[in-house]
Amino acid sequence: MKIVICPNVEQATLLAARVMEDALRQTPDITLGLATGRTMEKVYAALVQAHRDRGLDFSHCQSFNLDEYVGISPSSTQSYRAYMHTHLFSRVNIALSATHVPDGMATDLAARCAGYEKALHACGGVGLQLLGLGENGHIGFNEPFSAFTSRTRVVTLDPATREQNRSMFDDDLAQVPYHAVTMGVGTILDARRIVVLATGAAKARVVADMIEGPLTASISATALQMHANCLVITDEAAATALTRRAFIDHLMQHDAELQGLLS
Ligand code: GLP
Repeated sequence: MKIVICPNVEQATLLAARVMEDALRQTPDITLGLATGRTMEKVYAALVQAHRDRGLDFSHCQSFNLDEYVGISPSSTQSYRAYMHTHLFSRVNIALSATHVPDGMATDLAARCAGYEKALHACGGVGLQLLGLGENGHIGFNEPFSAFTSRTRVVTLDPATREQNRSMFDDDLAQVPYHAVTMGVGTILDARRIVVLATGAAKARVVADMIEGPLTASISATALQMHANCLVITDEAAATALTRRAFIDHLMQHDAELQGLLS
């Protein structure tokens, strides 16, 4: 795991977007793993700007989103399909047929989850996975106790997650689904490269657990310690609970890959 702590949320966001942009320029037919949430809105805004100002081309790539609510139609503004349409898909030149978001409306959800894994495999797997963090340590919607080997499946949402996401449902908890479809922890770990973006004081505890804590299925993000090519980008606010800060600063100054990113 490599760690970059940026002075503020703007710089953290721009760095995550730049890593995505560089990967897309280097491998135009890359398969991107995409995330939702408030943190990612600014990343997608930066990618849209790169498309408009610098001709960043999405026409050869594929995308697979991490998750979707069960029982929320793709046409509903609360769906992650609609989120992706609003923030990215409708604003860049990606082909609609190249975008994949789990289907939370399928009658046979288990079969549809298996189909998602198959489609991912057929595309050669995820080349670069963008990840956010839930305050309970979830990645995608892999809530506490998700197996590190789990695959795309239906999960029951943690009450804390439903509470955190209620603002997307007219601030009405009763409207927030109890279930979601998510890529598994094992599915996420199969990505060739992972970029985690976590900003704000509310993520400080889980950032410290993810980077320094023991591996535990109670905090899915700790599984990322096992990934050989995982970059974590935070702002100062999300880095306050780290106890190895001096060593992390030392690495930022002397690690060649991090120096390349920061130059
Ligand atoms: C949702 C998504 C997660 C995302 C999280 C973070 O729960 N399922 O994939 O990481 O939101 O959200 P935010 O960026 O709004 O804190």
